Amino acid sequence: VSSTFDFAANLFPLSSTTGAGGYAPIGAPTSGARPRGVLGGGSLEKHKTLTYLNGLSLIIGLIIGSGVFSSPSQISSKVGSPGAAIVVWIVAGILAWTGAASYAELGGAIPLNGGAQVYLAKTFGELAGFLFTWTAVLVLKPGSAAIIAIIMGEYFVRAVIGAEAEYVNPWINKSVALAGIFSVTLFNCVSTRMGTRINDMLMFLKFVALLFVAVVGIVVAVTGYTFKGEKDVAWKAKDWFNDTSTDLSNWAVALYGGLWAYDGWDNTNYVVGEFRNPSRDLPRVIHSAMPLVIVSYVLANVAYFLVLPVEDVNSSNTVAVMFGSKVFGPVGSIILALMVSASCLGALTSSTFTAGRLVYVAGKEGYIPGLFGKIGINNQDPSMSTQRTRNWAFRKLDQLLGDGEMGLFFTPIYALVLNGVITAGYCIVGEFPTLVTFYGVAGYTFYFCTVLGVIILRVKEPQLERPYQTWITTPIIFCCVSLFLLSRAVFARPIQTLAVVAFVIAGIPVYFWRVHGRDKLRKAGGGDAHTPWWRFWKK
Ligand code: ARG
Repeated sequence: VSSTFDFAANLFPLSSTTGAGGYAPIGAPTSGARPRGVLGGGSLEKHKTLTYLNGLSLIIGLIIGSGVFSSPSQISSKVGSPGAAIVVWIVAGILAWTGAASYAELGGAIPLNGGAQVYLAKTFGELAGFLFTWTAVLVLKPGSAAIIAIIMGEYFVRAVIGAEAEYVNPWINKSVALAGIFSVTLFNCVSTRMGTRINDMLMFLKFVALLFVAVVGIVVAVTGYTFKGEKDVAWKAKDWFNDTSTDLSNWAVALYGGLWAYDGWDNTNYVVGEFRNPSRDLPRVIHSAMPLVIVSYVLANVAYFLVLPVEDVNSSNTVAVMFGSKVFGPVGSIILALMVSASCLGALTSSTFTAGRLVYVAGKEGYIPGLFGKIGINNQDPSMSTQRTRNWAFRKLDQLLGDGEMGLFFTPIYALVLNGVITAGYCIVGEFPTLVTFYGVAGYTFYFCTVLGVIILRVKEPQLERPYQTWITTPIIFCCVSLFLLSRAVFARPIQTLAVVAFVIAGIPVYFWRVHGRDKLRKAGGGDAHTPWWRFWKK
């Protein structure tokens, strides 16, 4: 806690509110006044608040987005048969799991906020970490969030105006998407607890949705009747492995589709620094989240195939809605569309929560203006604190959420707003096919390098303390498969790959501008991470 902070807290001790029923944070020191987020300053990592459940909902919340509800066709139409599609879902899940297990080792050994940034910096030097942050802050995080937001908008509008509507003005979808981005940014700004609680709730909802699909599918298959009373014979005629494709490139494309649905497995790693017990909980989170997701994905897909004819699954990009209408009629399609929309909203909050932390770390490191590395509303006027405490509504909300010593607005507000603005920008421009390719190539390049770091660090720094160690085959498998996928992408989409390379290289001069300048200044005895860059040029 910065000195301005203590000063303010001493001037205005909030003794009447500390320690009162349920108000004090669990496990946090209760003595003394609470640092108030509303004053600005402070550091997130000093307040370890995240629990196992929060971690679980951050990772599952982002992984289960729209993919399992909308893109099964991308997989089954490529590999040709339901059985083969299920195999791809399992393989993609295990592959994501090997990546996540490797990240668990890194997160345990280097328990800091920032995810791949800190692991890459440790393995390959700060430039590598910077280039990841550069790409993730500007494209990967906001780009993928924009895609999720748009899909949320589409499903929501579909639920409201009916699935059969022929043409919907894309700006209607986009307005809903923008409203979603705005509200999740706001919630995450108000309080860390608010963000995590919404995550926790939406995670349960997602499981309910997937289990619902699975159970309904099995019931329909066993009884042979849909809930509309229609006789359903599709599943009995199905030969699960008929027409399986033997072309390897088809399988590779299908695997890509599956990997998007499982993507987001690195999400908890961005906030390891805020875990109460990172070395114990991070591996636990990952090794419970991944099997849970794999099982529920496989069950949902089995249910689709039990109820819908293969041709329908292969040709639809809203499989879940089709499933709902087949089983329950129009009401079913509305319910399912709302569920998918809520699921996307959950993915958006999870993503925003961690994106805020990523931008915040970049601000603290001096990669971007130091303002973005600040916590809370940067109001240095201590009187703000009393004003706020006297405000009945704020105090009630504070008590309700129970952020404990951190209080409301103890969040990386500026970082969250920056992320929200960039996300909204992508949402408005909306070049999705390009964005998806960019995401795949750039994202997997960094995954590959980071996981390679697990192997390199084992050789280079065998004495590094690793509370959790994965099997050495785990990172090796992940590296081999992602290299294979990347090499295919390079040949299939050479132009886009070049664009990714150009973008990453463009980060190098920025690195020297920001970081070199910062370090030179530090050596000369002036400035720190937050010193504006122009001070360096004036010297
Ligand atoms: N798996 C999610 C889905 O099915 C998408 C995750 C996007 N990835 C990310 N890192 N934001 O929709």
